Amino acid sequence: MASADVTGPRPTLRVVADKHALARAAAEAVVQHARDAIARRGRFLWVLSGGSTPAALYALLASEAWAGQVDWLKVHVFWGDERCVPPDDAASNCRMARSALLDHVPIPASQIHRMRGEDDPTHAAAAYETLLRSLTGSTLPPRFDLVLLGMGADGHTASLFPNTAAIRERQRFAVAHQIAADSPWRITLTPLVFNAAAAILLLVSGADKAAALQRVLEGPLQPDVLPAQVIAPRAGSLQWLVDRAAAGAVGSRQ
Ligand code: 6PG
Repeated sequence: MASADVTGPRPTLRVVADKHALARAAAEAVVQHARDAIARRGRFLWVLSGGSTPAALYALLASEAWAGQVDWLKVHVFWGDERCVPPDDAASNCRMARSALLDHVPIPASQIHRMRGEDDPTHAAAAYETLLRSLTGSTLPPRFDLVLLGMGADGHTASLFPNTAAIRERQRFAVAHQIAADSPWRITLTPLVFNAAAAILLLVSGADKAAALQRVLEGPLQPDVLPAQVIAPRAGSLQWLVDRAAAGAVGSRQ
């Protein structure tokens, strides 16, 4: 498994049967990370992912069987990326997380730190950077307890898309960019922030991701082409949690 120069534990790959098992395994991981962080530091700083894969995880965590396993009063949520649309837009990552999870658990509104997709993208990215810098009061990126990410069929993660400058950003913690003329601008955290995390959980589901996952995990290190390869926490854990359909091509190439 390709990885940059990191001192943390080597990335791990866990393959589960299907998307339902993926949601359960991810929920177990979130609960465990939350308990550990709250026990150690009195709060859990969690970066949420957008896209569709985490929706089942969020809904599970909001369910009666799971919601009581997290002390939501001590949870702070952030986003790894957001589409530059109003918060009630169907494309909003914040809207998805609210409808699946946040509106159903007692997390204080002041602890939901959304990216303001309705504002000018560059200003919204700068405002989010200011928020992140306020967490540490220094020039260092915040060390999130858990970062949840997904991966697209082109190997992108968060809104780090192939051949975008954000992949190699070394100063800013959040940037705004437009991926294609016909798509909304996006705000994304940069690898500086992701790779400062204590733990990263990267969820991948579905056969349409199989080719990209095999290249990301077993192919040459080329993060400009496969941005998910830039995810390499310097002193934290990275777990790839994937279903069997997504893992179909892993280990198949000699
Ligand atoms: C987004 C996500 C993005 C997502 C992948 C996978 O805003 O869309 O941040 O990186 O995680 O595109 O999306 P799916 O889970 O829908 O396959």
